[in-house]
Amino acid sequence: MTLARTVLPELLDDLGMQDPRAQRSRRDLQRLHWVMGTQRILLDALRKMPLQRSDSPSSPPLRVLELGAGDGSLMLGVARALQGEWPAVSLTLLDQHNLLESSTERRYARAGWRVTVQVGDVFDWAKQAPVAGWKPDTGRWDLIVSNLFLHHFEDQELRLLFDTVASRANYFLACEPRRARLALAASHLVGAVGANAITRHDAVLSVRAGFRHKELCSLWPGFEGDWTLEEYQCGLFSHCFSAVRTVALPAGVRP
Ligand SMILES: C[S@@+](CC[C@H](N)C(=O)[O-])C[C@H]1O[C@@H](n2cnc3c(N)ncnc32)[C@H](O)[C@@H]1O
Repeated sequence: MTLARTVLPELLDDLGMQDPRAQRSRRDLQRLHWVMGTQRILLDALRKMPLQRSDSPSSPPLRVLELGAGDGSLMLGVARALQGEWPAVSLTLLDQHNLLESSTERRYARAGWRVTVQVGDVFDWAKQAPVAGWKPDTGRWDLIVSNLFLHHFEDQELRLLFDTVASRANYFLACEPRRARLALAASHLVGAVGANAITRHDAVLSVRAGFRHKELCSLWPGFEGDWTLEEYQCGLFSHCFSAVRTVALPAGVRP
């Protein structure tokens, strides 16, 4: 068995939003996150990030963007856990589909996070001209996150995406499948937690397209000294990558 990285199209991405198999597979994903401990992994990483924030009610909210956000349920768990710890957050969920349910939006509001959906392809977002007056080094987002998303793309696409992320954010955090024998073996067993055929198929592809070692660090744009990068195994099946701008501007500094 080779552990060379292979990126193949996942079935879920080609199913219509209303397709019952897709709806079921998205619910499977929530269960798999529970098994993988993704929320805990994200919280640990976010709490370590030296996000500069002010608790003053007059300060602007933290601006957070999730790429490939799906139904937003994973970050909702994060929002609830950080309630009282973080100030108000303005979260944008970017996905090729609009999957946010109004009940989820209301739960975000109760956690003090205002949520906005941006529907579109991430590479269209990457190509978008920055808003007028925007300067690359000011960081348009305080934080960009992505979960089970980067593995959809080939290295050259990730380089392009990282170029954009590095020019628009002060912090970046990604949690992806770990490309390792244990994770691959487990991906063949997701049926045991009731996953449907779509999820069973995509789980194996996701691990084969996942990451290991310092693969994501090697794709980050080489601004020597401008970023602190970390890439590490977390939990049994996940692989995390974080990038912290070395001289982060305070949250609230806007173009
Ligand atoms: C495996 S799901 C992960 C969803 C969510 N981040 C989570 O962890 O529960 C991947 C998501 O990426 C979205 N996606 C895939 N390719 C995309 C693209 N090129 N642009 C925007 N979204 C995309 C899919 O619609 C899907 O919701």
